[in-house]
Amino acid sequence: MAKIDFNMDNHWLPFTPNRSFKLDPRVFVAADGMHFTTHDGKQVLDGISSLWCVTAGHNRKPINEAIKKQLDTLDYATAFQASNNRAFEAAEMIAAMAPGDLNKVLFCNSGSEAADTSMKVALAYHRARGEGHRNMFIGRERGYHGVGFGGMSVGGIPANRKMFGTALLPRVDHLRFIHDPVTHAYIHGTEPVWQEDILLELENRILPLHDPSNVAAVIVEPVAGSAGWYLPPKGYLKRLREICDKHGILLIFDEVITGFGRMGTNFAADYYGVVPDMLNFAKGVTNGVIPLGGVICRDHLYNTMMAANDKNPEHVIEFFHGYTYSGHPVACAAAVATLNLFKQENLFSRAGEMGKVLGDAMHSAFKGLPNVIGIRTLGLAGAVELTGIAGLPGKRAYDIFLECFHKGVLIRPAGETLVLAPPFIVDKSHIDQLVGTLAAAIKKHA
Ligand SMILES: Cc1ncc(COP(=O)(O)O)c(C=O)c1O
Repeated sequence: MAKIDFNMDNHWLPFTPNRSFKLDPRVFVAADGMHFTTHDGKQVLDGISSLWCVTAGHNRKPINEAIKKQLDTLDYATAFQASNNRAFEAAEMIAAMAPGDLNKVLFCNSGSEAADTSMKVALAYHRARGEGHRNMFIGRERGYHGVGFGGMSVGGIPANRKMFGTALLPRVDHLRFIHDPVTHAYIHGTEPVWQEDILLELENRILPLHDPSNVAAVIVEPVAGSAGWYLPPKGYLKRLREICDKHGILLIFDEVITGFGRMGTNFAADYYGVVPDMLNFAKGVTNGVIPLGGVICRDHLYNTMMAANDKNPEHVIEFFHGYTYSGHPVACAAAVATLNLFKQENLFSRAGEMGKVLGDAMHSAFKGLPNVIGIRTLGLAGAVELTGIAGLPGKRAYDIFLECFHKGVLIRPAGETLVLAPPFIVDKSHIDQLVGTLAAAIKKHA
C-alpha cells in the first residue's frame, strides 16, 4: 500500500465498509476521459460512470467552462420568491427532452430528494382534487429510491431498510420483484417475455387489499439499477400504466439511473413507450459534476395545484415544498452545458450502439465461468450474477471488485452481482479491458 499523506480519521464514507477501506484505501485525485488517477499514481478505468453519473466522460471542458463562467456571473440567488435565469433555461431543455406532457420541472439536489419530492407532489395533488384519503404508496421489492424516509419506505432493498424499519412510512406496500432466475437468467439486449403476468398480483391482491381509491402513487425504476440491472418483462410498464389509469393512481418513474441516455434514448420512458405522471432524475443531468436532481411533472399535476388555489389570493404559495438549492444557478448552468454536449456529440445513440458491443462482450466472456448464474444486458449497462459464498453474503462480489480495482478497473458490486455501466464515450478497447479484467477476477475468485 502506498503511503497515505492525508488524515483519514474524519471522513465517514457512505455506503462503504469503512474498516476494509482503511486497510486498502481507494482514493482518486484526478480524472480525465475514461480514467482516474489514484493517490498512488495508478490509472483506473471508470467502468461505472462513477455511480452512473459521468456519462459524457470526465473533465469535459464545455461543462467546466460553463460552471466557471456561471460562478463569475451569478454564483447563487435565493430559490424562493425569486429565481435565476439558468433554472428556467435548464427546465426548458429538460421538459423539451421529456416525452408527452411532462413539462413542469421541480428541481432538487439528488435522487433521494427527487423521490421524496415526487411523493409529496402525489399527496398534494390528490388533496387538491379533494381525494386527500389517497395517501398510500406502492413501491417494488429491491427498488432503490435513495435514502430519505420517503424513498427508503417505497424502496425495497432489505439491507437499506433493516436498521430503520420502525421509522419507515406506514402506508406502503410493494410489488413483487421482476426477476425470473430460471427462465430469464440470461438476457441479451431484449425484453424478456414472461408467460406469467406478474402484475396480476397488483390487480388481484394489493389493490383490493388496500382499495385502489386509497392509493396515491406507484413508484418504480423502469429498470432496477442499484439492485443489479434487472429488466422488466415485455409489456410490464405499459400494463402498469393501464392499471394506474384505471384506478386514478399516479405512476412515478424513478429515472435517476436510466434517464439521460443510458438506454440509448432520452429516458427509459421513451425506450418502453410509456409516459409516467412524474419522472425523477439526477446524476447524469450534470454529468455528475455538480449535484442536481428533479421531478418532471405532467401538466395536469401543475394545473390541478394551481386551480385548487383559484379562491386563494395570488400571494399564497401553492405547494409548500422546495430546497434552498432548488435550481441552483451553477448546477443549472452545468446541466445546460451537459445537455448541449449530449446533443453535439450524439452521445445517447452512441450509448445505444456501445451497449450492443458491451452486451456481446459480457455474454461471450462470462457465460460458463465458475459461479456465474446470470447475465443481464440492455442499454449501455450489464450485470453478471454469481453464486454467493455460504455464510458470507456479498463477499465474492466484493473481493472481485477489489481485484478489478487493483488491476486498474472500477466496477460496482451489488449483493452477489457485479455491474458495468461505462460512460457513453467508451470504446471497444475499454470494453475489452473491462470485461477481460472482470472475467479473470471471476476465475481467480472461483
Ligand atoms: C433509481 C435511483 N433513485 C434514487 C437514487 C438516489 O440518488 P442520490 O444518491 O442522488 O440521492 C439513486 C441512486 O443511485 C437511484 O439509482
